[in-house]
Amino acid sequence: MKQNLTIALSKGRILKDTLPLLEAANIIPAEDIFSSRKLIFDTNHDNIKLVVIRATDVPTYVENGGADMGVAGKDVLLEYGAKGLYEPLDLDIAKCRLMVAGMKGAADVQGRMKVATKFVNVTKAYFARQGRQVDIIKLYGAMELAPIMGLADRIVDIVDTGNTLRANGLEPLEDICYVSSRMVVGKAAMKMKHRQIQPILELLAAAVEARK
Ligand code: ADP
Ligand code: PRP
Ligand code: MG
Repeated sequence: MKQNLTIALSKGRILKDTLPLLEAANIIPAEDIFSSRKLIFDTNHDNIKLVVIRATDVPTYVENGGADMGVAGKDVLLEYGAKGLYEPLDLDIAKCRLMVAGMKGAADVQGRMKVATKFVNVTKAYFARQGRQVDIIKLYGAMELAPIMGLADRIVDIVDTGNTLRANGLEPLEDICYVSSRMVVGKAAMKMKHRQIQPILELLAAAVEARK
């Protein structure tokens, strides 16, 4: 018997790169996701559905069984700190780095450094590992603005081309980690729906290899 399977996709910049990989695994949405206001989509399989949610909500859905598998950036997974998730496949899309950045040529900071970021947990852990004391200022976007406005000495954010840093007079300073998007699977789903999930993972892995 075929059990129902729900896959959570991050809306935003990952979605465009995710759909061709799913298609290579023969999972095709029944309608155009981009022109729809729906949040849940049928596919060419009557037992497989796609839900399209904020990137940061994907681990929450998958860990709590609201979806069986999902696609999320390593940055989001590190920040969420999921324990009830497997991460069986690097999809090799949305590749970038998490970095510390500051105003170009800015002097070293004496005393406690103010760091603006939306990655509060990753930032705390990074500076704690080095024994450096920082005050973290939580933002939800446009981190690059914070040092310009004197809100923070440094930021921790995603850097890809470096264009956003350059356009705002900032420079990359320290590399925290490499980021790409991963397929994640809930621990319960991996156990209960293994026979359905395994072939999908294999087809996805082949599609990822074929793109290299
Ligand atoms: P959000 O609205 O949460 O920023 P995005 O769609 O912009 O969501 O980003 C989704 C994921 O794509 C991020 O979690 C990260 O893994 C990756 N990402 C973000 N910015 C970039 C970028 N400039 N280049 C490549 N990958 C990126
Ligand atoms: C992301 C990230 C950086 C930028 C880095 O922002 O937060 O600002 O991309 O890419 P670059 O090095 O190629 O310039 P995004 O466009 O996703 O905006 P957001 O603040 O809405 O997440
Ligand atoms: Mg973004």
